[in-house]
Amino acid sequence: MPTVLITGANRGLGLEFARQYGRSGWRVIATSRSPAKADALRALGGDVAVYGLDVADFDAVRRLGRELAGDSIDVMIANAGISGPGEMTPEAVDAEAWGETFRVNSMAPLALAGALLAPVARSEQRKMVAITSRLGSMGANSDGGLYAYRSSKAALNAVWRSYALDHPEIIAAALHPGWVRTDMGGDQALLGAEESVAGLRRVIAGLSQADTGRFYNYDGSPIPW
Ligand SMILES: NC(=O)c1ccc[n+]([C@@H]2O[C@H](COP(=O)([O-])OP(=O)(O)OC[C@H]3O[C@@H](n4cnc5c(N)ncnc54)[C@H](OP(=O)(O)O)[C@@H]3O)[C@@H](O)[C@H]2O)c1
Repeated sequence: MPTVLITGANRGLGLEFARQYGRSGWRVIATSRSPAKADALRALGGDVAVYGLDVADFDAVRRLGRELAGDSIDVMIANAGISGPGEMTPEAVDAEAWGETFRVNSMAPLALAGALLAPVARSEQRKMVAITSRLGSMGANSDGGLYAYRSSKAALNAVWRSYALDHPEIIAAALHPGWVRTDMGGDQALLGAEESVAGLRRVIAGLSQADTGRFYNYDGSPIPW
């Protein structure tokens, strides 16, 4: 059976990824920064192993990479993310909060990719997915605002594209989940997590070498950078 690794898997989209892959018979390596509190994750049936990981701790990311060095990971999903300082204005730039947003959303996925390259590259499917956002697209930005979050996801998109070009031995795609009802997306969001993740899983299953370095919506349509 194939193996998937998901970061930030204790709630929201990450938990739903773990649930759906687990139900489909995949081996799931689910990471959470507070595994002791990841009750919903531990309650999932199937072959789900929970690992503690704060993705902003790059030493811990490298340690996980060493622990899994001999493993085989078909699909790695860099899902953990934060909204950052949503209310930040140009008159009150919050360098610390913006920096943390970059650390979690833009830098951590690259650290994870570096740490897990060997187990992904030796797997059958060889896929690395970054859960980014349409809000990181320049071409699709018609609303303004959300400076920290938008720029952190735009940076992630640039990072993922470069990583894909540097590593033709894997397939690296940036995927937008839609606007989803999670703690981050809020109650007014258009999609349930089940529908979003079902779509994302279809897109991931269909990824081929021609898709590496590309940016897709959860329904498979391309999104402009
Ligand atoms: N929901 C949407 O509408 C939407 C739209 C576009 C993109 N996205 C992206 O989708 C991904 C998942 O979002 P979501 O809606 O599921 O958000 P969520 O419900 O807020 O869940 C975020 C997850 O990320 C984890 N996380 C945050 N910082 C972390 C860190 N330093 N180390 C480890 N885990 C960390 C959280 O863990 P804790 O429980 O420990 O905080 C939680 O498991 C994010 O990358 C987000 O930017 C979401």
